[in-house]
Amino acid sequence: MSLRIAVLASGRGSNLQAILDERAASRLPGVELVMVGSDVPGAAALDRARAAGVEAVAVDRQAFADRAAFEAALLAALRDRGVEAVVLAGFMRLLSPAFLGAFPDRVINIHPSLLPSFPGLHAVRQALEHGVKVAGCTVHLVDGGTDSGAILLQAAVPVMADDTEDALGARILVEEHRLLPEGVRLLAAGPIRRVGRRATLG
Ligand code: GRF
Repeated sequence: MSLRIAVLASGRGSNLQAILDERAASRLPGVELVMVGSDVPGAAALDRARAAGVEAVAVDRQAFADRAAFEAALLAALRDRGVEAVVLAGFMRLLSPAFLGAFPDRVINIHPSLLPSFPGLHAVRQALEHGVKVAGCTVHLVDGGTDSGAILLQAAVPVMADDTEDALGARILVEEHRLLPEGVRLLAAGPIRRVGRRATLG
């Protein structure tokens, strides 16, 4: 039995592409990617999905009066396709506990910092401005907060003395593209066992 997953993305979709590439190389056993969704109809991520032969579904946030109505439409799209787990790959919307309750411990996100440091927007800039010497990325379970769920995987990269936000962000992105497919494999191998904040893997 395969785990039916959806990837949600709001933008360029390079992390989605990493998943599509692993899928194309048959390195996501037990995973069926049934849909890519976006809250932004023009998102490049949707084009990447179509190019890979995966159904692309836009649920335009602007078309709905409030978050509840938007989430109801998104949830209906996921349920229609039998989605069992959701991967957030640059999805720029907070999801409510009610939505997340439909996929308990089966929604993961990639964030470009070593959480719990630097949650939220501009994480790479935050890390640079703070002066950390080691940066990185985190795959975590999604709860109702901002990048606050239980940590599943992390990867570290060094910060160089002359780093810019772009240079450090690019170094982190290489690790993101390795880590997020790894997170998808964990979901497929699951269920993920969790005691409080501590997730036990493998
Ligand atoms: C990545 O840095 C990811 O960590 C963050 O949003 C960015 C998305 O990039 N959550 P992409 O759309 O996957 O290229």
